[in-house]
Amino acid sequence: MNNPGTSSWKEAVTVRLLEKDSCFDYSADVAALYRDAGWISEEEDTAFIAPMLRNTFCVAGAFYRGRLIGMMRALSDGVSDAYLLDMVVLTPYRGNGIALRILECIVSHLKSLGIDWIVCISVPGVEKLYLKLGESMGGHLPVRFR
Ligand SMILES: CC(C)(COP(=O)(O)OP(=O)(O)OC[C@H]1O[C@@H](n2cnc3c(N)ncnc32)[C@H](O)[C@@H]1OP(=O)(O)O)[C@@H](O)C(=O)NCCC(=O)NCCS
Repeated sequence: MNNPGTSSWKEAVTVRLLEKDSCFDYSADVAALYRDAGWISEEEDTAFIAPMLRNTFCVAGAFYRGRLIGMMRALSDGVSDAYLLDMVVLTPYRGNGIALRILECIVSHLKSLGIDWIVCISVPGVEKLYLKLGESMGGHLPVRFR
């Protein structure tokens, strides 16, 4: 949101981990984020989101006026490996460093647990965001099994 009506709105955005027991309470906000990103359609059944969040290792969220306006989540064994996915920020709030704050939050949490294999697959064009904190994996190739 480049013109939100207050010059200090960015300072009012908080970024934190969602509490594990209540993260599925944010299902409606997450559905709105996924719709905004074009990952699900308006009509799509969103019943999958609550169990998806419940089974996610951790979720970092950005909040503005009590609403979830951005997130990223991690799948992990909690010990050695973590895979980051579903980074998204609501369109009006993009371009203000919120995704980078979310990334810093989730990566620092995973590192604090001693996890040293933290990886994400960038969609084409967004690499610059992840390369601000991480490094290219060179010849490693993401492979999908359908
Ligand atoms: C990608 C996305 C999360 C970025 O959110 P954002 O809050 O605008 O990102 P930030 O403002 O924190 O950007 C931080 C840096 O990442 C880079 N970056 C962010 N979005 C980018 C994009 N779409 N293309 C290229 N670089 C981008 C920029 O270099 C920026 O640094 P700079 O300001 O020094 O140039 C947002 O555009 C989005 O939700 N897109 C739709 C969903 C999606 O594609 N997610 C990525 C899945 S891998």
